[in-house]
Amino acid sequence: MNALPDQENDKPPSITPRPARSWRVAVLANIKEHNKPLPPDVPPDAGADYDYIETIDHIRAAIESDGHATVFIQADSELPYALKEAKPEICFNIAEGLGGDAREAQTPALLEMLKIPYTGSRVLTNAIALDKTLTKRIWRDRRLPVAPFQEFHAGDEPLRPELRFPLFVKPAREGTGMGVDVHAIVNNELELRERVKYIISMYKQPALVETFLSGREFTVGVMGRSDAKLFSRHPEWYGPDGFHRFPILELDSSRSVTPGVYGLQAKAQSVGAEGAPGYICPAQVEPELAKKLQHYAWRAHHLLGALDVSRVDFRLDREGNPCLLEINPLPGLTPDYSDLCLLAKGEGISYTDLILEILYLGASRWGLLEPRQIPPEPPKKRGGAVNGKSKIHLIP
Ligand SMILES: Nc1ncnc2c1ncn2[C@@H]1O[C@H](COP(=O)(O)OP(=O)(O)O)[C@@H](O)[C@H]1O
Ligand SMILES: [Mg+2]
Repeated sequence: MNALPDQENDKPPSITPRPARSWRVAVLANIKEHNKPLPPDVPPDAGADYDYIETIDHIRAAIESDGHATVFIQADSELPYALKEAKPEICFNIAEGLGGDAREAQTPALLEMLKIPYTGSRVLTNAIALDKTLTKRIWRDRRLPVAPFQEFHAGDEPLRPELRFPLFVKPAREGTGMGVDVHAIVNNELELRERVKYIISMYKQPALVETFLSGREFTVGVMGRSDAKLFSRHPEWYGPDGFHRFPILELDSSRSVTPGVYGLQAKAQSVGAEGAPGYICPAQVEPELAKKLQHYAWRAHHLLGALDVSRVDFRLDREGNPCLLEINPLPGLTPDYSDLCLLAKGEGISYTDLILEILYLGASRWGLLEPRQIPPEPPKKRGGAVNGKSKIHLIP
């Protein structure tokens, strides 16, 4: 006999795990400042990963549509004081940070210090993910496929024999294609040394040198966690492991302003504009490759301890094998433009639903949301009959 009274059992499962009341949500970001001249000691593309204020407006509108109050706070050195004044119950964090070797971890670290809940990955993941070399070492250690690589600190270190030209040179700790253009591909020692020295002196950080991966490029979104269904507004999105599989996005840079390279200049073009890469979602890929990409992305997310949402970039090598390039635990969220938004759009998930999903998954980890009540499984009847129909198929 079931211990619960019948009346309880008859209740339909709750459709949405509604917050008990509306939250005060602070959206934290670094905003592009067009009119401010760059300081003399920074690279020409400094701040390229910062957001447009319009993106913040879209995020706020999505959150407000669910009945919450929002405030935008610039994630600069005044942030601690602004947070104390605004007293948010949760922060929607997309802040890129203000420099240093782990800038994307700065805002999470401050929020941890002030004990304020926030969305997405925590300090360690954001710090490591910004460092592409460290990330690749972790993945390689667990047998995930990464191209051979070497990090250069001085520029004149001997090149390891496993690295054969053409090679690809990029800053070890940037994002959004910063420091990446057609000159990132180097064909000989001279070009290599020049580019490595340029990256080290201009970006004031190590240069990461990898085998040039000449194949197709994909990005794969990861969203969820084992108990995501209990807190999601859309439990139907999630598989039995609690993760949602977005369709895969292919980036075809062959006809972009930087042919073959999805660097800053290519990324800066509006989707569909002349000189923009082709954005193909869902990508046309054989089921076996799709399965591999999804699996590696999920493992890559787990191994870095990423939470709730991330985007993992891949390129195929000459033989068509996928190699992990990097993970983005703070994926861009500009509607109809950022890769994650295009992935969602590719399967008909609205921008508002995507933003609210990230908010709900985050809020639930900090105890701001009660789990959905899942009704207990109906007791199994003898003989395997369910709903009066036998599930046993007799083979004649
Ligand atoms: N080893 C590589 N071989 C070929 N292209 C690469 C390689 N590494 C990066 N790229 C190109 O450079 C782009 C940016 O590199 P990525 O590692 O994703 O850094 P981010 O997007 O953070 O700037 C990729 O999208 C890809 O087009
Ligand atoms: Mg990338």
